[in-house]
Amino acid sequence: MSKFKIAPSILSANFAKLGQEITDVLASGADIIHFDVMDNHYVPNLTIGPLVCEAIRPLTDAMIDVHLMVKPVDRIIPDFAKAGANMITFHPEASEHIDRTIGLIKECGCKAGMVFNPGTPLNYLDHVLEKLDMVLIMSVNPGFGGQSFIPEALNKLRTVRKMIDATGKDIWLEVDGGVKVNNIAEIARAGADTFVAGSAVYGAGKDSDPHRYETVIAAM
Ligand code: DX5
Ligand code: ZN
Repeated sequence: MSKFKIAPSILSANFAKLGQEITDVLASGADIIHFDVMDNHYVPNLTIGPLVCEAIRPLTDAMIDVHLMVKPVDRIIPDFAKAGANMITFHPEASEHIDRTIGLIKECGCKAGMVFNPGTPLNYLDHVLEKLDMVLIMSVNPGFGGQSFIPEALNKLRTVRKMIDATGKDIWLEVDGGVKVNNIAEIARAGADTFVAGSAVYGAGKDSDPHRYETVIAAM
């Protein structure tokens, strides 16, 4: 896998043909499946759960990156691990005990990541950063695809990049929300290495164009 990884969010896929959509984006060069889980409680939207994760698992060996926008979060973690998730990320505001949640994800055999909303301070990383496999910086408020990138996220990425580099560990830095072909280079310069892109990838081109995903992923 190259240093930069593209993780299309299936939130913007056509759910009537989800399996084909996932197969197509991976064949077009995507690296990771970003799987957005929303509970209509922590965030104002409702999406998909472990059954859908289990259903798509046999389609590919690619990483399934489960982004849990769910509160409380702990009780759903083992279900996603059993359903084939590789990476599980959670929001610190949705956990009563963040160190315990990180430990639970790892005990379940998954990589663990913590997610920061645009207004969430980075001090949640104190004392736990080295236990994480990934930090996810939200560049929109969570809940919906298709929102605009919040530029302040660039400063946050630069700060976390320095913190990660200081650990000397291979901790991924993911960005999620409003990532497009025309801003991804600037976001990469701010230090991100893993890019969630929902509407930019799954919204690309016309259904009749078999190369629509290939073209946009290649441009990223
Ligand atoms: C938002 C989700 C994102 C979203 C990204 O809460 O976590 O993954 O689907 O969609 P775009 O790329 O359209 O902003
Ligand atoms: Zn997401």
